[in-house]
Amino acid sequence: MEKTIKRIGVLTSGGDAPGMNAAIRAVVRTAVSLGIDCVGIRRGWQGLINCDFVQLNNEGVAHILNRGGTMLYTARSEEFMTEAGRKRALSSCKMLGIDGIVAIGGDGTFRGALELSQLGIPVVGVPATIDNDIGCSDYTIGFDTACNTAIECIDKLRDTMQAHERCSVVEVMGRNAGNIALYVGIAVGATSVLLPEYELDFRKDVIERIQNARLAGSTHFMIVVAEGAGHAFDIGERIEREIGMKPRVTVLGYLQRGGIPNARDRETATRMGYRAVMALAENRANCVIARQKGDVVEVPIEDALTMKRGLNLERYAVLEAMQGVAAIS
Ligand code: F6P
Repeated sequence: MEKTIKRIGVLTSGGDAPGMNAAIRAVVRTAVSLGIDCVGIRRGWQGLINCDFVQLNNEGVAHILNRGGTMLYTARSEEFMTEAGRKRALSSCKMLGIDGIVAIGGDGTFRGALELSQLGIPVVGVPATIDNDIGCSDYTIGFDTACNTAIECIDKLRDTMQAHERCSVVEVMGRNAGNIALYVGIAVGATSVLLPEYELDFRKDVIERIQNARLAGSTHFMIVVAEGAGHAFDIGERIEREIGMKPRVTVLGYLQRGGIPNARDRETATRMGYRAVMALAENRANCVIARQKGDVVEVPIEDALTMKRGLNLERYAVLEAMQGVAAIS
């Protein structure tokens, strides 16, 4: 028999991403439009364990569409990884009368969602992480804004590198996935891009690329490194040791996680938030809302967690071709 959803909870978990607020707003407004009550659970799964919640309505999510961060705060919960923690979370759901949860975050968030769904609470995941590394989805909320932030910073660095005829080593986020580095590397015309997905051959990937660029007439060089591929300061030191050029090193770090979400992230977040509530309301829970070939679709959580999405090889080929021609655009 189909269950009528009367009250849902929404939470954000894991690393924040620009557009999380837009997703929260969409969840609340869709729920309200369907006559479903909505509570915001603060500080992710840990907040659920602690019954840390706030009642939400249309006014409560006004003016957040264009804000970075997350009004519900975010956290990573060790306790929720334990059976005892999840049981406490289940008790909270019962106490608060929550019939379903929308969990906004990345892989870790969805693993938590799966565990909770197995205890009988319907859950829908919404992918939001600047890493764009959710296997089932072509896109995750926050990625585009993060790339644009990195590009803006690197464009500025390029101005001063050009003026002084220097080499820049810039570290971008991406501990396990090189998507930001790949996109940004293409967009800034990097001399070399180092990705966690590929084993580093320092001579070939860094030194020879700098030398080739120099032979092609470049007087400044931009090395983009994903944090999972190596530390920018180590790479800078090694360049100096091997060819005597002293690179200037910049770690963009958490700058990339903040900022005003751009059009793509707001639109995607709003569509995904809407779809998540529709899935719960129509009893199609325990899924992840994914973007596939431009459409917003529902993928069972178990499948979503097993799907892997490697680096986009077509983009990698484009990057290689650009690097083969010249140093920096
Ligand atoms: O949000 C994803 C991410 O930015 C990764 O690229 C990075 O490795 C990680 O989060 C760092 O986040 P924290 O320091 O909050 O654990």
